[in-house]
Amino acid sequence: MRRNLPRFQADALDANQTLVELLAEVAREKDATPAQIALAWLLAQRSWIVPIPGTTKIHRLKENIGALDIDLGPEEVARITRAADQIDIQGARYPEAMEQMTGL
Ligand SMILES: NC(=O)c1ccc[n+]([C@@H]2O[C@H](COP(=O)([O-])OP(=O)(O)OC[C@H]3O[C@@H](n4cnc5c(N)ncnc54)[C@H](OP(=O)(O)O)[C@@H]3O)[C@@H](O)[C@H]2O)c1
Repeated sequence: MRRNLPRFQADALDANQTLVELLAEVAREKDATPAQIALAWLLAQRSWIVPIPGTTKIHRLKENIGALDIDLGPEEVARITRAADQIDIQGARYPEAMEQMTGL
């Protein structure tokens, strides 16, 4: 499905690579993977936010569950948020017709 989403088109993927590089930088510092940092950042936002990453691979299931063991302190969370806010993410989340169905 994501192959049809604006944010996942080649130009947007190239432009948004800056965000992946940011996550990779933090991941190197925490001896983790970029996916784990993304999940840990999300988990740190609100106690009631529960990411549900899909995967067809057991090693990624284990990697993703490993995000629970990554302790991002408030300063690290704020640093990632500040840096991410500087990035002008390219490509809409959904095509217009689909966006209108979200009710947001
Ligand atoms: N109700 C809604 O509005 C809504 C919206 C979005 C999603 N969902 C549901 O939420 C669930 C999860 O959605 P999703 O978009 O995360 O799942 P998804 O559509 O399965 O996509 C996840 C993608 O990320 C890859 N991936 C997973 N872990 C990774 C990792 N650690 N490193 C690199 N790539 C990784 C997976 O590839 P591999 O399989 O190769 O690992 C897969 O291509 C699904 O059941 C979906 O239907 C619901």
